[in-house]
Amino acid sequence: MSISPTGRSHPERHHPTDEQRLASLQSEFGVSPPGSLRGDASDDDSMQPLPQRPSTTLLQVQDALRDALPESPDMIRARHDALAAKIRLDQLSERRPRCVSHSSAAMDDSSHSCAQVSMDESRTRFDKVQEEEPESWEGAARIYEYGSAANPELPKVPVVVHPASLHESGATRVIPFDLSELLGGQGPCTSPNLMASYVRIVVGESITTQAKATSQAYYVIRGSGSTSSEHGVVKWATGDLFVVPKTDGSLQHSCSSAEAHDGAALYWIHDQPLLDYLGVRPDEVKFPPALFTRSKLLETVEEIRHGPGMEHANRLGVLLGNASTEKTTKTLTHVMWSLLNSIGPHTVQKPHRHNSVALDMAVAAPWPHGKVYTLMGRELDANGNVVDPIRVDWADGSVFVTPPGWWHSHHNESDSTAWVLPIQDAGLYTHQRTLDIRFADDEIELHRQGRIRGTAFNITNKQYLEVVSTHQAALDAADNDVPNFNYGL
Ligand SMILES: [Fe+2]
Repeated sequence: MSISPTGRSHPERHHPTDEQRLASLQSEFGVSPPGSLRGDASDDDSMQPLPQRPSTTLLQVQDALRDALPESPDMIRARHDALAAKIRLDQLSERRPRCVSHSSAAMDDSSHSCAQVSMDESRTRFDKVQEEEPESWEGAARIYEYGSAANPELPKVPVVVHPASLHESGATRVIPFDLSELLGGQGPCTSPNLMASYVRIVVGESITTQAKATSQAYYVIRGSGSTSSEHGVVKWATGDLFVVPKTDGSLQHSCSSAEAHDGAALYWIHDQPLLDYLGVRPDEVKFPPALFTRSKLLETVEEIRHGPGMEHANRLGVLLGNASTEKTTKTLTHVMWSLLNSIGPHTVQKPHRHNSVALDMAVAAPWPHGKVYTLMGRELDANGNVVDPIRVDWADGSVFVTPPGWWHSHHNESDSTAWVLPIQDAGLYTHQRTLDIRFADDEIELHRQGRIRGTAFNITNKQYLEVVSTHQAALDAADNDVPNFNYGL
């Protein structure tokens, strides 16, 4: 279901209020959300004039629609469409005066088309806008004192668990892990850049998913089946992972069998929140779709386990890459990153940290519950242990969030190997040279030497000077008017 924010009516003749738009959305849904969506508390519209500016917030709209609607896949998509429509309406409302004086190319056919404005009207409004424009531009500018604004207060990424029980029963549906109310996202999101959901598919049934994303990853928690899209058909089974690039249409997932709980479960992550933040749509297919089978992943882990120098390694894992990133970031996609990581019995993987947010799928947490866990926190003590940690106990098929920059150590006190599959936006960070992954032992050793480093990006001063001198030599050889930058050296 899609929702059109307005008709094609002339903006001066009919410009629906926000309440009318919401009523239209509610009518299309066939529901009447509880409570007032307006900012004031009055139930008597006759006594309270409608506000000039929209008094609703996106979260209020989201709350109301969520409360009123069952979480079926169609309803979730409809809710997302409603949010997108609301955002679009607000943007158009703020842009409308500029529509007259600037190109109509920026306005789509669901908005107030410039072509429908008469020349006289256009001229009058153009003159008015020309007078207002300088003031408008200055009105939007903000200037802050550096020290007080360089590290602004933003909603913190929380440590939250999305339990496996959500995908172990019930109807075929998408089960979003939506933390946008905590994070202040412009749409559903689990971290600022990524959205994670479970997709439950009852045996013999199908479901479609769709995202405005450059990258989508699906890890098969349980079950067997297939997924078809404009990229072709892929068959999957428990433990497999597949990725798809920009997809204009939807993906249709069908479940043929499941070893438990009468249905398959997929762990679905995409980067639509990043695109929402940027205000863009994906334009290019940036990588070929890829499938990682469970057997191939485990076979590779075994090869590494028996490799030289791995006898006493307590960190045994494989990074998942793509042919398109082989010569660059070596990541799952150009945005996303994933690792299949094993923690041997009675083993501790000492703390590490990175700037990306990890959305960790506990693939296998040996019984009994509580024997495998992660400790996480902002600081290390002198021995490299996490100070005042938060503990997250693993449970098979559950997901937990590891905030950016937090130190985290994995602990396995059971008699069996535990497995975790973090999916992150670390492809993007790696491209930016800002992932900054650090390991506790390295940092403690540096600290003992009385040194603090600014980055874990591995380049020495000598190498840096060589890079600069090589670049300078190339400029000199070009023998043209290129300015002779010396980078302050
Ligand atoms: Fe990590």
